[in-house]
Amino acid sequence: MRKLVRETQLSPDDFVMPYFVRPGKGVRQPIASMPGQFQFSVDELVKEARGLAKTGVGSLILFGIPASKDAKGSGGWAKNGIVQQAVRALKDALPELVVITDVCMCEYTDHGHCGILKGREVDNDATLPILQKIAVSHAEAGADVVAPSGMMDGVVAALRSALPKATILSYAAKYASAFYGPFRQAAESAPSFGDRQAYQMDVANADEAVREIDLDLREGADIIMVKPALAYLDIIRRAKEKFGCPMAAYNVSGEYAMIKAAGERGWIDEKKVILEVLTSIKRAGSDFILTYFARGAAQWIT
Ligand code: PBG
Repeated sequence: MRKLVRETQLSPDDFVMPYFVRPGKGVRQPIASMPGQFQFSVDELVKEARGLAKTGVGSLILFGIPASKDAKGSGGWAKNGIVQQAVRALKDALPELVVITDVCMCEYTDHGHCGILKGREVDNDATLPILQKIAVSHAEAGADVVAPSGMMDGVVAALRSALPKATILSYAAKYASAFYGPFRQAAESAPSFGDRQAYQMDVANADEAVREIDLDLREGADIIMVKPALAYLDIIRRAKEKFGCPMAAYNVSGEYAMIKAAGERGWIDEKKVILEVLTSIKRAGSDFILTYFARGAAQWIT
């Protein structure tokens, strides 16, 4: 009876699996802050993605760790950059897989900020042409979706003009959250000074999220994202009700690490908590979820 009236069902179709890709061959390097997650070289990533596809998950998002970093983040748009190589290899091996790329500078800059610096401040408008170059290089490599994550003002319009036909997944309401800590270790992208509060949103604001999402949709975003997920379920619900547009939520690294840590100690039933969390994010209104649990959860629910 409960099954007959259940409102929310999880399916592998709901998940996008994030991966970190780095140079080298045969590399499968564990990420200390995210037990069970790895930095992969391109060859290992292709193997991993084959396994992912077998679980029924049809999509992944890529983050790159370049061989070297500089002030302009030039590794981000290099034709043979690490993400570009990974996209080509994945689309070659698994053409049906939806490959999303994260479009941001923080993994490629030596200072770790998400844009070009002027003094100690991020120069929003000087960053836009660079993000265009990154997105175009990803699309040329074969990416199906580009996902700008740096919260620069006007980035969706900039990408839309550079790529009229691309699918843009905008990190529209991205909060200046402490939940990204483990990711910054995984992507080697922690800012070397200051924080990201000048470009990411104030945790306390919800009306502002609605305005940010509205702007991104007007600028031409196809799908909007709320990030993190769990502490922002109210934002997901409000946005879904107000805009009714395709929506994603990012179940981020800190949300993953907390569950893994408590699970390892036997303090929670890890599997049950994961499925409860993912169900709640979907129930709140997210059509799909970017989650490091994607592969495991897909296996449990099918
Ligand atoms: C890049 C980016 C970040 C995340 C996704 N894209 C880090 C940040 O903004 O510092 C975080 C993802 C996670 O914590 O799982 N700007």
